[in-house]
Amino acid sequence: MYYSDEIIEEVRSANDIVDVISPYVKLAKKGASYFGLCPFHNEKSGSFSVSQSKQMYYCFGCGAGGNVFTFLMEYEKMSFVESISYLANRAGITLPEVELTEEEKRRKNLKNQLYEVNKEAAKFFHYQLNTKPGEIGKKYFEKRGLSEETQTRFGLGYSNIDGTVLYRYLKNKGYDDNVLKESGLIIMNERGAYDRFRDRVMFPIMDINSKVIGFGGRIIGDGEPKYLNSPETILFDKGRNLYGLNFAKSSRQPNIIICEGYMDVIALHQAGFTQAVAALGTAFTAAHAMLLKRYTNNILMTFDSDGAGVKAALRAIPIMKSAGLSVKAIDMRPYKDPDEFIKALGPEEFQKRIDSAVNSFMYKIDKLSLEYDLNDPAEKTKFINEAAKELTEFEEEIERNNYVEAVAQKFGIDCESLKRLVNRYGNAMEIVQTGESQKRIQDSSQVKEDGVVKSQQILLTLLCNEPQLFGIISKYISPEDFVDDIYNKVAVTVYEQLKDTGNIVPGQIMNMFENEEEHKKVASLFSNDIREGTSVKEKEKILNETILNVKKNSLAFRNKNYSALTGEEKQKFIADKMNLQKIHVTLN
Ligand code: GTP
Ligand code: MN
Repeated sequence: MYYSDEIIEEVRSANDIVDVISPYVKLAKKGASYFGLCPFHNEKSGSFSVSQSKQMYYCFGCGAGGNVFTFLMEYEKMSFVESISYLANRAGITLPEVELTEEEKRRKNLKNQLYEVNKEAAKFFHYQLNTKPGEIGKKYFEKRGLSEETQTRFGLGYSNIDGTVLYRYLKNKGYDDNVLKESGLIIMNERGAYDRFRDRVMFPIMDINSKVIGFGGRIIGDGEPKYLNSPETILFDKGRNLYGLNFAKSSRQPNIIICEGYMDVIALHQAGFTQAVAALGTAFTAAHAMLLKRYTNNILMTFDSDGAGVKAALRAIPIMKSAGLSVKAIDMRPYKDPDEFIKALGPEEFQKRIDSAVNSFMYKIDKLSLEYDLNDPAEKTKFINEAAKELTEFEEEIERNNYVEAVAQKFGIDCESLKRLVNRYGNAMEIVQTGESQKRIQDSSQVKEDGVVKSQQILLTLLCNEPQLFGIISKYISPEDFVDDIYNKVAVTVYEQLKDTGNIVPGQIMNMFENEEEHKKVASLFSNDIREGTSVKEKEKILNETILNVKKNSLAFRNKNYSALTGEEKQKFIADKMNLQKIHVTLN
């Protein structure tokens, strides 16, 4: 199945890594690299670096790393082959036909067929809406105030009350039972095959490329369940998709509105708020937050006013915040949700609510206050203590004081007393935390990377950052001195390329390795933290130490395997050993 090394390299070099990663991660230039929030772990400060000259990324926080292919494999869960074909397409390169393995063929085939089946089904449901049996659905949408245009834009539909029409329709189109079963649209059991959705109004769920990946179906009138959704399939991952984002991503608004339901999204779009999205019948996830982060930093939450909505909102807030999003909450009271609000008061009033949205912290404290009877002194004291604990989340003093003042004013609490209370809780917390970080330091020293490994990394990073050092380093160190398998393979290539071209691109060197773990390791090799602007004297010292270290380790390694060495290798070993004392690098 494999593409030739030349093709792989052609595709890689035609896709600049900064361009490829930019749509996913907000990057800012810092020194020689770009930095942003790592999409592979939750963090508040950007440890994720992308280097244009090295054509690789590396996260100093979690160790994720690789080249353009690795990124798509990790982020989009593409296979290696899929990442090549995606990037070839992106760069306008035509790939030669290749043989896929049986497993790859099956998967690719299934995925494509599922996209097709979903698309066919969406067309079918939409068509049904405008037929006699679909009248009831049509009326339902009309009653809910959705225009013809909106119905078309969102591809709304109706699933027939007869439980097998869709099955028969898709069978006629030539799809196999096992594909139909995988799509989640058809249920198969001992009684036969029948449609999952019957007599419901249908909402196709699209991914950001507007491809249908699943459906939600609402009962017409009352009944259980009110909404029925497609099960998760290889296309449909509820935790990674947001309803309406395919439209919202190009809304050109300074924010994204996140609400709870299909109808809320649609009603908002119809009213002109085309930046609305919803998580679908599932809790808000970190992946959702990262997805939003690609398009905006500002989130407006309009969760339902009921208990469940508030609970969901309070759970979503910290997830969004740790993705670095700034979050405000819009209250829909006295209405239940945005759909009902818009219907009752119209878009202008909704815009007013947007303008007066409170930041998520005040929303949280507001909701907390509802749990206490503030007219009862004992209850109020409890509330003040809980609020003070919440206020310790602000590490920055000025910011903390601003919030202390806001809370004090809102709930009629003496500001100075509240400040003292907050500081008291804050100090208590700090003691707990320092205890913890102490322990973490001890743990990390136990697993601390062995100095030799580190030295090898430093040398390779240096060779990459400052290829002019090759002459000096290669006088003392040869690729065989990098004893670890992967390091050795990398070093051989680094030496060859430096000899040939005087330059290396780590992103290219990674092509030699197949799996993501290896890419990660190679990325770490070239990401050693050598400060820019280190003085010549310091650099000399680093070079002498690391060269000596790598050499000593290589000697120890060869010593242990002495009997397995060839005659030539034995001679080299003895010469290296004698020259050890003579290692002395000077830079000028
Ligand atoms: P309408 O009554 O049509 O206006 O819907 P709503 O959006 O106001 O409903 P609600 O607030 O009850 O639910 C919000 C979202 O949760 C819905 O859009 C669905 O995605 C999901 N949901 C609601 N009920 C169910 C259910 O019974 N099963 C599942 N799986 N999801 C549901
Ligand atoms: Mn509703």
